[in-house]
Amino acid sequence: MNRLSTGIPGLDRKLEGGYPEGESILITGEPGTGKTILGIQFLYQTCMEGRKCMMIATEETPEKILLHAKLLGFDLEPFLDNNCLSIMRILEMRASYTGISADGMYETGSMHLDDLNNLTQLIADDVEAIVVDNIGTFSIGTELKTFRNKLEMLTYHLSTQKMTALLMMDGTAHELTHKIAEYSTYGTIRLIVKENPYTGKMERFMYIPKMRGTGISLDPMIYEISNEGIRLPVQGKKD
Ligand SMILES: Nc1ncnc2c1ncn2[C@@H]1O[C@H](COP(=O)(O)OP(=O)(O)OP(=O)(O)O)[C@@H](O)[C@H]1O
Ligand SMILES: [Mg+2]
Repeated sequence: MNRLSTGIPGLDRKLEGGYPEGESILITGEPGTGKTILGIQFLYQTCMEGRKCMMIATEETPEKILLHAKLLGFDLEPFLDNNCLSIMRILEMRASYTGISADGMYETGSMHLDDLNNLTQLIADDVEAIVVDNIGTFSIGTELKTFRNKLEMLTYHLSTQKMTALLMMDGTAHELTHKIAEYSTYGTIRLIVKENPYTGKMERFMYIPKMRGTGISLDPMIYEISNEGIRLPVQGKKD
């Protein structure tokens, strides 16, 4: 199976080289656990390899994401300039809407922005990697069965187009949907902050409950966020 580097050497090693190419991976976590940073590092790495990428940002403006990335040493602006990367302004599209349609959906023109399946209309055919941050936005107020169906249609579409996707989902939406999204994706990575029983300190853990086609350890792995982004320390060293 081909892999796309995660942009994090320690995580690549845990995943036999990276995210499985052409598949959708769910990334879940509470606020501040590093979901967006994980997405930024993947986009930076993939753009560095010359692959066309897209980010669909439902909660932050592209300017904030670009600034966030630059502060961590991942300057994405050159990739926007050379059209390697596009960032979809879903947040502004949501904000600019001034009313609610008859069926209770947000809409811009004829496009219902609460509909997960409409995302596929936004994605150019030649995109190889995509980050959606965050799909939790599309689950609120949606029946569980409908959300699952739509998510499966999205992952099916992305897979037929051989697009590798990171689908971020906030912890609250994930809990409210009974973690159902984990069944619909090829793999799942959970970002967790909890007390380390050995040190008594709050620490960041990455747990991979599932990654099809990949031999994974079920042991939670400590990760750190610094001004160089996410790192998984290896054997006492930072990598
Ligand atoms: N330079 C830095 N040094 C240390 N930690 C940092 C640095 N920059 C960011 N962080 C950490 O990363 C966190 C933000 O990460 P990120 O925005 O990716 O989280 P998130 O999971 O996307 O959150 P949300 O659900 O609110 O979108 C901050 O709360 C902070 O703890
Ligand atoms: Mg975020």
